[in-house]
Amino acid sequence: MQNPPEAKKTGKSETLTITDNRTGKQYELPIEHETIRAIDLRQIRVKDDDFGLMTYDPAFMNTAACKSSITFIDGDKGILRYRGYPIEQLAEKCSYLEVAYLLVHGELPTKAQLVEWTGQITVHTFVHENVKKLMDGFHHDAHPMGMFVSMVAGLSTFYPSAKRISDPAERKLTIYRLIGKAPTLAAFAYRHSIGMPYVHPDNELGYAANFLSMMFKIAEPKYLANPVLAKALDVLFILHADHEQNCSTSAMRGVGSSKVDPFSAAAAASSALYGPLHGGANEEVLRMLDHIGSVANIPAFIKDVKDGKGRLMGFGHRVYKNFDPRATIIKKLADQVFEVTGRNPKLDIALELERIALQDDYFIKRKLYPNVDFYSGLIYQALRFPVDMFPVLFAIGRMSGWLAQWQEMLLDEDQKIARPRQVYLGQPVREVVMLSQRG
Ligand code: CMC
Repeated sequence: MQNPPEAKKTGKSETLTITDNRTGKQYELPIEHETIRAIDLRQIRVKDDDFGLMTYDPAFMNTAACKSSITFIDGDKGILRYRGYPIEQLAEKCSYLEVAYLLVHGELPTKAQLVEWTGQITVHTFVHENVKKLMDGFHHDAHPMGMFVSMVAGLSTFYPSAKRISDPAERKLTIYRLIGKAPTLAAFAYRHSIGMPYVHPDNELGYAANFLSMMFKIAEPKYLANPVLAKALDVLFILHADHEQNCSTSAMRGVGSSKVDPFSAAAAASSALYGPLHGGANEEVLRMLDHIGSVANIPAFIKDVKDGKGRLMGFGHRVYKNFDPRATIIKKLADQVFEVTGRNPKLDIALELERIALQDDYFIKRKLYPNVDFYSGLIYQALRFPVDMFPVLFAIGRMSGWLAQWQEMLLDEDQKIARPRQVYLGQPVREVVMLSQRG
């Protein structure tokens, strides 16, 4: 977010003058891309042996930790672009694999590049037979996201050469593997949870259609998903593919900055995504709609939210303070899906919740609007995904974004191992008293 590429220079001197009132000294710091370098503050000190000034920024509310060319968000205007392309156009004109290529390579593929890319990802959808044995070790009621996180980490043991992250060929191979195998692991986690045999990938099918086949195939020789539903899932993958420096992407970059293999970093990113304030929110939305039960109960529910007894899940966003463009696309997509599957009865509750919340001062003042998760869960449910699978679906789409951001981080000469600072508020130095003498 911020620093839109089209931002104009002011023409004024691009510096910031700071006066330290403790010493009366002045400092002139360069401004680049509307930021100052935090490290430039370290020269500001009272005594020569002071550590120097730092910034205190819990939750990174106003700290840019990297320069990136991948995703641009303007939260006030409701703009989301991947590599300069508006999300609305990508969702309408491209497939998920084209968008994944775009995120990773910076440009949309030509026809020949797409054939090569699709072919590589398709042949890497299969997993080693021992993956099934690992999967079998989970309890029948294990959360599929817990299984997914573990299996993504587990893949690092099958491909030890993925550690060679400075080798571009090795990186490429791991990118094929992670994008290719994410749906396979996700589907296996689901099949394990319902006690059904695992379904092997069908290389004749597209990315989303193959995933639906691995999820839902029973005895039919070939599982062909309704093309409207497969397309809807593909669009949902596009909408979730990247979102600049969100919690899970920061985890991917932060963990990846230790130069660990990308399977381990992607497992950390998946764990971050699992949380109810991030990728777990779509699951929470459905639970919330179930809990509300009927349109008549909405006013009481909204009152509880305003009284601080819980949140309206699927509402609000750290960055979008106007509307989430992904939510707008998803709302339209929902209509197409419901034409095939029949209307999800919870839609009426969701629509009425949205209507009431958008007129309510509490939500207006705090700029809380429906986010990507508000309607996506209803579509997932119409596609027959159980609620537990929702964050896993988010992870499949986000895998390409994580990998693009990870590779960008590795190739960025400004980057080092991530290591935030702290403000120490603990005890000053003191002597250890032997246990026998502690009162
Ligand atoms: N329902 C009710 N009140 C809310 C909500 C909500 N969903 N979200 C924020 N608020 C209130 C919050 O209580 C606070 O009020 P006050 O100023 O009186 O203390 C104010 O709005 C600001 O909230 P915040 O927690 O400081 O905002 P944040 O930017 O730190 O949090 C958020 C962003 C997404 C975590 C938050 O809006 C939230 O918890 N939403 C519900 C969970 C959700 O839908 N998450 C999915 C996000 S989109 C998918 C993704 O990219 O991960």
